[in-house]
Amino acid sequence: MSSSDRLTIGTIGTGNVAQAIVGHAVTAGYQVVLSNSRGPESLTELVGQLGANASAGTVAEAAQADIVILAVNWDKVPDAVKDVSDWNGRIVIDATNQWGGPGTEIVDLGDQTGSEHNAALMPGARVVKAFNTIVAGVTAQNPSRTNGRLVVFLAGDDPDAKTTVSAFVDSMGFSPVDLGGAREGRLMQVGGPLGGLHVVKLA
Ligand SMILES: NC(=O)c1ccc[n+]([C@@H]2O[C@H](COP(=O)([O-])OP(=O)(O)OC[C@H]3O[C@@H](n4cnc5c(N)ncnc54)[C@H](OP(=O)(O)O)[C@@H]3O)[C@@H](O)[C@H]2O)c1
Repeated sequence: MSSSDRLTIGTIGTGNVAQAIVGHAVTAGYQVVLSNSRGPESLTELVGQLGANASAGTVAEAAQADIVILAVNWDKVPDAVKDVSDWNGRIVIDATNQWGGPGTEIVDLGDQTGSEHNAALMPGARVVKAFNTIVAGVTAQNPSRTNGRLVVFLAGDDPDAKTTVSAFVDSMGFSPVDLGGAREGRLMQVGGPLGGLHVVKLA
């Protein structure tokens, strides 16, 4: 695939996680639109560092991308997604963890998974949980390891969206591992068996 054929990537949030992912995305040739709460002008320096494949926009503009990366703190999710008028069909990588507030405690959602909670705030979006299990500083590193690649776990209910996200993850040098539907996302949550687990899949 040539760079001009590549899907476009948008980010909602431009902090540790989003920057870690888009660093790889721009290197792989994707056009990335970054957004945060403070507006495009606040992103001039970061866009300059990322180079010609990066630009800044509003949240609504970033949400027009083929793949939208949601990477804001848990308590900011409702506010961050509310100005997007139509989520229908959008592919959203949910990189959030339900880990919130000054007390940094796991938010109790009962039987609901974090991505199920977030999907309800983005009606019609095709949500794929990914990248939330990896510490951002590790995501930012070269995913190649001796004889293998760093694993990015995926969970979501839309098979086509997962195929697209898997290809995106793979193209940046990570090894995508599909865990199943949104329910399986509970395995990836903070406190779950895969939360914070960094895994290398041998080639
Ligand atoms: N840090 C990690 O190692 C790690 C690893 C895996 C998953 N996670 C999860 O990933 C998420 C992001 O973590 P992070 O460490 O990247 O956080 P972060 O560095 O604090 O960045 C948060 C970003 O969210 C933006 N934001 C806040 N409110 C917003 C709004 N209303 N609209 C648009 N953007 C908004 C902020 O922009 P402004 O500054 O303009 O407000 C900022 O760019 C969290 O849910 C976290 O639990 C973190």
